[in-house]
Amino acid sequence: MSIERLTERLDALGAIGDTGGDGNSRLALTSEDRAGRDLVVTWMRDLDLDITVDGIGNVIAVQPGFDPLVDPVMTGSHIDTVRTGGRYDGNLGVLAGLEVIETVQATGLDLDRPLAVGFFTNEEGARFAPDMLGSLVFAGGMQLEDALDISDVDGVTIGDELRRIGYAGIGACPARPPHAFVELHIEQGPVLEAEGVNVGAVTSVQGISWQELTIVGQSNHAGTTPMSMRHDAAYAAAAITTFVRDLAIRMGVPQVGTVGVTDLHPDLVNVVAATARMTVDLRNTDSQMLGDAEARLARFVSELADREGVTITSRRLARFEPVVFHDRVISLIEAAAETRGRSVRRMPSGAGHDAQMLARICPTAMIFVPSVGGISHNPAEHTAAADLHIGTEVLLDVMVELTRTRFDHRSGAERT
Ligand code: GLV
Ligand code: MN
Ligand code: MN
Repeated sequence: MSIERLTERLDALGAIGDTGGDGNSRLALTSEDRAGRDLVVTWMRDLDLDITVDGIGNVIAVQPGFDPLVDPVMTGSHIDTVRTGGRYDGNLGVLAGLEVIETVQATGLDLDRPLAVGFFTNEEGARFAPDMLGSLVFAGGMQLEDALDISDVDGVTIGDELRRIGYAGIGACPARPPHAFVELHIEQGPVLEAEGVNVGAVTSVQGISWQELTIVGQSNHAGTTPMSMRHDAAYAAAAITTFVRDLAIRMGVPQVGTVGVTDLHPDLVNVVAATARMTVDLRNTDSQMLGDAEARLARFVSELADREGVTITSRRLARFEPVVFHDRVISLIEAAAETRGRSVRRMPSGAGHDAQMLARICPTAMIFVPSVGGISHNPAEHTAAADLHIGTEVLLDVMVELTRTRFDHRSGAERT
C-alpha cells in the first residue's frame, strides 16, 4: 500500500475545480465533475479493471477474470463536491478503494470474489436534489427515468447533463447487488479527533429531511410602507430560520436543523422583499422525532403565513429514514482496526452517505477517520496523511475479509 500514491491522487483530483487553499468545487455533472470523472476512470483503466457506466452515470470498476455470477465486494463513494468543498469528502473513499485494489493486485492475493470500486453520481445534492441520488437509483430506490428528469435551479436536467459530459451509460439500474459494501469516509465531525480515536465503525446514518420553501409577499417601498402594512418575504424567511434553530435546540441532541439557502428577490436595499426561496435541512437519528420536527415546522410556517399575509409553499427535496448498518460488517471493521493496533469506536453518522443506499440491497457499513477540527463542506477540510493510511489499511482488511464472509441472508441493514 502506498500512502504517497493515495495522497498524490487526492492532490491531482483536488486540482480539478481547485478554489484555492485546498478548496474544491466540482458540483455534480458540471464540466469540472466530468474532468474529475475522466481522471479517476484513467486510473481505473490503468489497473485493467472492468468499467461500467450505468444509466445515472455511476461508474463501477470491478477486478476482471471472475465468473460474472460471483458478486464483488464493493467499496466506493462520490467525487462530486459542494460548491465550497474540500478534497477529502467522498474523494477519499473512491481513491482509497483504488489503492486497496492496486495493493491486492500487486501482492497477487488470490481472492474468492472480485473487489470493486465505484463513484456514485450527485451524492452531495448541492446541485440536484435529492442527495445520494446515484446510489439511490443503483439500489432501486428511484426509477431511472424519474431521476433523469430532475433539474437544477436553472432548469437543466440530469439527463441532459449526463449526455453533455458523456456519462449517460448503459449499465443497468437498479444494479445487481454486490456481495457486500463498505465505504471509507472522513468523519466530517469532531468526535474521533476529540477522543483521540483512530477509527470509527459506523453503526447508522441519521434520517434526513430537506424541503424548499417559497415565500411570496409583496415588494414595496422601504421608506413609505408602514410596518403594519408589509407582506415581507425577507422577514418571513428570517423568522423561519430562527425557528429552525430554536426548534433543534429545544428538541435537543440529536436533532439538528439548518437553513443553508435564502434567496431574496428583488434583493435591494430599499425594497421590501417580494419573494424568498429558502431550504431547510432537518436531521435526527430517530424517525419519529424527525417527523415531529417536520410537523412543528409546518405548523409554524402556516401560522406565520397567516400572520404576515404571505403565501408559503413547500416542496420536498429529500426524505430518507434513518439507516442501521449490518452488525456483522460493523464487527469486521472493529476487528480489523484492533488487529492493526488501532483504537476504534462505534458511532453514528451525521452526514448522508452512498453506503446508506447500498444498505438497502446488501450487507453494508462504513469506516470513519478523523477530520481535523471537525470541519467539512469547507475548503479547510483536512485529514492527516497518517489517518488516511490507517483508514485505507482497515478498508483493505475488511474488504478481503468480506470476500470470505458468507451471509446467511442477503438482506442489507440489520438491527445492531
Ligand atoms: C451529504 O453529503 C449530506 O450529508 O448533506
Ligand atoms: Mn461525502
Ligand atoms: Mn459532502
